[in-house]
Amino acid sequence: MMHEITKGLEGVEVDSTAVSLVDGQAGKLSYRGHFIESLIDWPFTRVVLLVLDGIVPTPAEQAEFEVQLARAAVLSEPDEALLQLAAQTPVHPMTVLQGLIPLLSHSAGFERFGDAAHGLTIAAKLPALIAGLHRLRGGETTTAPSPSPDPNVRFLAQMGLPARPALARAFNITQILQIEHGFNASTFTARVVASTLAPIENVLAAALGALHGPLHGGADQAALEMAVEVGTPDAAEAYVDACLANGRKIMGMGHREYRLLDPRARFVKQLAGELARGTPLEPIQQTLEAIEAHFLARMLERGKSLYANLEFYKGIVYRAAGLPPNYFTAAFAMARVYGYLAHFIESRTDNRIIRPAARYVGITPA
Ligand code: COA
Repeated sequence: MMHEITKGLEGVEVDSTAVSLVDGQAGKLSYRGHFIESLIDWPFTRVVLLVLDGIVPTPAEQAEFEVQLARAAVLSEPDEALLQLAAQTPVHPMTVLQGLIPLLSHSAGFERFGDAAHGLTIAAKLPALIAGLHRLRGGETTTAPSPSPDPNVRFLAQMGLPARPALARAFNITQILQIEHGFNASTFTARVVASTLAPIENVLAAALGALHGPLHGGADQAALEMAVEVGTPDAAEAYVDACLANGRKIMGMGHREYRLLDPRARFVKQLAGELARGTPLEPIQQTLEAIEAHFLARMLERGKSLYANLEFYKGIVYRAAGLPPNYFTAAFAMARVYGYLAHFIESRTDNRIIRPAARYVGITPA
């Protein structure tokens, strides 16, 4: 008897992992056995090492890792030349990154990570590439990395922003919350490509291609653009109703796994509200809140458990960090790249090529 096809692989366990647990029923997320609630005020690099190695690093290990990352973060002359070329194109930043990643120069370092070593160098360079692309397209020059040992602080400095503690904290928390999330579409893509024994640069480039889509990471850009288009909280109800009537998705709402509020969204909503207060971002935040309220009310009427996901309010934090909406998903990638690396390392310990079957429904061959 033919079994039913599970479209979108919903609920299908395709492999095991010890990197993170997305508990959709309870609305909880943990990295390596640590709930995210306990990680948000850690330094970013400490969480990264926990995710990569599975154990909390010692202060000395963390300091050494930070030095290696800072060294690797400096773009080489060929990297700079590639970035200059890319900046002259109208191509979306995510496509620029996907194209540049396999071309970035190799350097020594991170040997203990084996096949993933060059991936750490790529991860280290992403903030400089993203901030550099933004600056070059704005007619400015790229900046030398700041001396901070923290990659997120370095990124904000490269974006040309003054080091405001509230912004630095909100940005750090947002990035920590995005490091890892189970077998989401881009991490699964990374594992598929890794399963062919392709090199890490191909794995990361492919994963970023999947992250770009608006049903996945690209929802961050789409959600903020939606709020700007809606314009005011008063217009939210009509917008939500028109979308639902026309079968259009509200960007940043819903999730495959969570049946309760995405635990990451709770933090990001609060941070966004704090950053927006008394700034030009406040009306956008209020419009998002109104869209959320009307969407939740409509879903309640229909008996559906659909809530805001991480992407819904994140754009406020990223706008406060000086990022235009089309750079949001690239900034997401700066964090998620470490999750991809953890999965790459994990998959290499017990690899089998991922090669599912397709049910043929075409013309009967004759
Ligand atoms: N707006 C309106 N309706 C939504 C919705 C949204 N954002 N998300 C889900 N739904 C509805 C669907 O229309 C569908 O309704 P139906 O049962 O009447 O046909 C039902 O909920 C299930 O949606 P489906 O798209 O099949 O769920 P999925 O598990 O395949 O997809 C997402 C999950 C996240 C891709 C989906 O919720 C979505 O497209 N959200 C918007 C994009 C987004 O925010 N992505 C970021 C995810 S972190």
